[in-house]
Amino acid sequence: AQIVQADFVKSSVKTEDCPGDGLPEFALVGRSNVGKSSLLNSLVRRKRLALTSKKPGKTQCINHFRINDNWYLVDLPGYGYASAPHELKHDWNKFTKDYFLNRSTLVSVFLLVDASIPPKQIDLDYASWLGQNQVPMTMVFTKCDKRKKKKNGGKRPEENIKEFQDLIQGFFETTPPWIMTSSVTNQGRDEILLHMAQLRNY
Ligand code: GTP
Ligand code: MG
Repeated sequence: AQIVQADFVKSSVKTEDCPGDGLPEFALVGRSNVGKSSLLNSLVRRKRLALTSKKPGKTQCINHFRINDNWYLVDLPGYGYASAPHELKHDWNKFTKDYFLNRSTLVSVFLLVDASIPPKQIDLDYASWLGQNQVPMTMVFTKCDKRKKKKNGGKRPEENIKEFQDLIQGFFETTPPWIMTSSVTNQGRDEILLHMAQLRNY
C-alpha cells in the first residue's frame, strides 16, 4: 500500500473543475491548522508537496494529488479560520460542501481532529453534518505526539479522543473508523494507507 509516486495535478474552486478521469479519491478535511497538508506530506514521504504553514488558512482550493497514477489524495481548505474574510469563509463552506455531496469519485472523507486539545464545537458540527448527509467518513486524530499541556486542558490525546468519540456517537448509524496519527513521528501512516487500499478495493 506504499506510495511510490505523487504528483500535484490541479487546484480547483468548483466540483465541476476537478479531474474528470474517474479515479477514486480521498479528501482530507478539518479545522485550519489541524495538519491536513502535513499529513498528506507524511503519507507521500515528501516534505513540501502540499504547502504547510504555522498560520491558518494556507490551503485555499481543492488540490488534487495523483498517487501511483491510480488514485487521488485531495487537500482541502480548512474551516473555522476566524481571520478569513467573511466572503471567503462562506465560499469555502459552499464549495467544500458541494464537493462532498456531488463528487461521485469521492470514496471517503478523512475528517482530521486535533487530539492535543479537548473537542471543539465546530469539529462536532462538521462530523454531525457529514453524518446527517451520509458522507462516508474516516476519523483521523492528528498531533498525537503532543504531550498534555495545562493551557490545552491538561488531558492526554487518548482522553481527548475518547471524549470526542462519545460526543459524536449519535450522529452515525455505525461509528466511523478512526486512526491516531502524528506527522512528526509518522504514527498512523501505514494504517491510513492500508485503510485507503481496503476502501479502494471494495
Ligand atoms: P490549513 O491549510 O491552513 O487549513 O492548515 P492545515 O490543516 O493544512 O495544517 P498544516 O499541515 O499547514 O499544519 C499546521 C501547523 O501544525 C504547522 O505548524 C505544522 O507543523 C503543525 N503540525 C501539523 N501536524 C502536526 C503533528 O502531527 N504534530 C505536531 N506537533 N505538529 C503538527
Ligand atoms: Mg493546508
